[in-house]
Amino acid sequence: MVHLPALPKRYHSASVWALYGLGLLPAGYGFYLGATGQLPGNPVKEFEHLLGLWALRFLVATLAITPIRDIFGINWLRYRRALGLLAFYYVLMHFLAYMLLDQVLNIPAILTDIGRRPFITIGMAGLVMLIPLAITSNNWSIRRLGTRWNTLHRLAYVIAAAGALHFSMSVKVVGPEQMLYLGLVAMLIAWRLVRKPYLRRKRQAANGPVRRQPIEKAAG
Ligand code: HEM
Repeated sequence: MVHLPALPKRYHSASVWALYGLGLLPAGYGFYLGATGQLPGNPVKEFEHLLGLWALRFLVATLAITPIRDIFGINWLRYRRALGLLAFYYVLMHFLAYMLLDQVLNIPAILTDIGRRPFITIGMAGLVMLIPLAITSNNWSIRRLGTRWNTLHRLAYVIAAAGALHFSMSVKVVGPEQMLYLGLVAMLIAWRLVRKPYLRRKRQAANGPVRRQPIEKAAG
């Protein structure tokens, strides 16, 4: 267990808003650099890439909240919704940058790209799957959907896998950065699979070994 100083409850909501503000800074700064001609090379591509990378970072951060709590006992659950929504905003901005700046709204070219280039098809699938998650990221939907909400939000793993795959397929040679995201997403999915037995064992260890009654005593 890692013991971090607890944030007083009165700052919880402010810290979530601060996360939204900080999380949107890279997009704002990237846009400013692009608009003032300070992005190197092809500024449109650079901006598009920056948005795609931050989308992937926020997807990974969203999925990391549960293992961080399970393994280290640090409860950052209150930031999960903001991280997930930031991931959605970045994917949306990435898509808009592609549509408006890269393809200058050439709809036939965009549709051909989505249909013919597998890495774009996978990216698009990621965006489409993110929409229901973003729409249902509110307390009302959680109450209304009950356990179906959890089932629906497991899609976040598929989306992160699609994002990491899309990133790897967008380059000619898969390098350390692509491997890093593929590895992180693989570990997060693996954690989901071993989580239940791990938590059961951890609970048993905390409660001490289960004492078995001697057979004759139990029978009598
Ligand atoms: C879950 C959704 C998505 C994620 C996480 C994501 C992430 C990324 C990342 C990390 C990159 C590479 C950035 C770099 O090289 O530094 C990238 C590139 C790209 N993505 Fe996405 N993306 C997503 C969805 C989409 C969608 C919906 C489209 C368009 C339909 C799209 C189009 C592109 C394009 C055109 C590139 C650039 C490829 C090039 O270098 O020419 N992406 N994306």
